[in-house]
Amino acid sequence: MSASKKSDKPAKPAARESGEVPPVKLIPIYVMGKRYEVPEGLTLMKAMEHAGYKFIRGCGCRGGTCGACGTVYRKPGDYRLQVALACQKTVEPDMHISQIPFFPANRALFEFEKLTEAPEEVFKLYPELFRCVACNACTKACPQGIEVMDAVSALKQGNISGAAEIAFECIQCGLCTGRCFGELMQYHMFQLARRIYGARIAPRAEHLARMTESIAGGRYEEFLEKLQGMSEEELKELYREREVEPVTAGEDWTPQDKTYL
Ligand code: SF4
Ligand code: SF4
Ligand code: FES
Repeated sequence: MSASKKSDKPAKPAARESGEVPPVKLIPIYVMGKRYEVPEGLTLMKAMEHAGYKFIRGCGCRGGTCGACGTVYRKPGDYRLQVALACQKTVEPDMHISQIPFFPANRALFEFEKLTEAPEEVFKLYPELFRCVACNACTKACPQGIEVMDAVSALKQGNISGAAEIAFECIQCGLCTGRCFGELMQYHMFQLARRIYGARIAPRAEHLARMTESIAGGRYEEFLEKLQGMSEEELKELYREREVEPVTAGEDWTPQDKTYL
């Protein structure tokens, strides 16, 4: 029989159609030096749970935003110590992992109401800032891909807005702090920069001020009362009939009914 001739036997249905569960491929990983076999494709966090670890610390959102699951790892034959969020990174064969869920770092105490946007305020609260030796180890350690050293440099130059912008996506995992030669606590400094920027430097949102004023002035009271008096069906109907913003709408799109704008 030629290799290309079709078999008379009915084809075996694909696993998904037949309901069969495909076999799980296990790969070895090392958690704090101990070897485990875990299913391929799991995140480090799930792999550790599969291995029997229970997270009572070092786990929060499981979505890459809370910064609770900082992890360091090394792969065989690779000299580099690498970093990841355990809830995001998937396992690779033979990787050695260890979680760093909290890295001690001093946080300056201050009364925010009394702080101004003067750079000296940051210098006074975090004089360690000037211990930075520009080694860039912090940038390499950041699982968010933030140019950490650039944000530190911006702060040193008194550029609070620049630091706030560069470090906007900092999730305060602390991995940069753990690698810093100058023993800085970058994430607390960045949080301060963002707060000062938000409260003292960013332009005020005038449209928001107008809207809150108009809400406080009772503009929507009558409409809200009308809604409260409606039945569930009437509310559903109102929802179905609403004018939906088109997906391709431009920035200047407004609904035809402008009563409550
Ligand atoms: S800047 Fe530091 S604390 Fe912030 S996300 Fe990056 S490594 Fe984590
Ligand atoms: S790791 Fe520390 S010393 Fe090195 S560049 Fe970053 S802040 Fe500066
Ligand atoms: S659990 Fe929140 S970032 Fe990983």
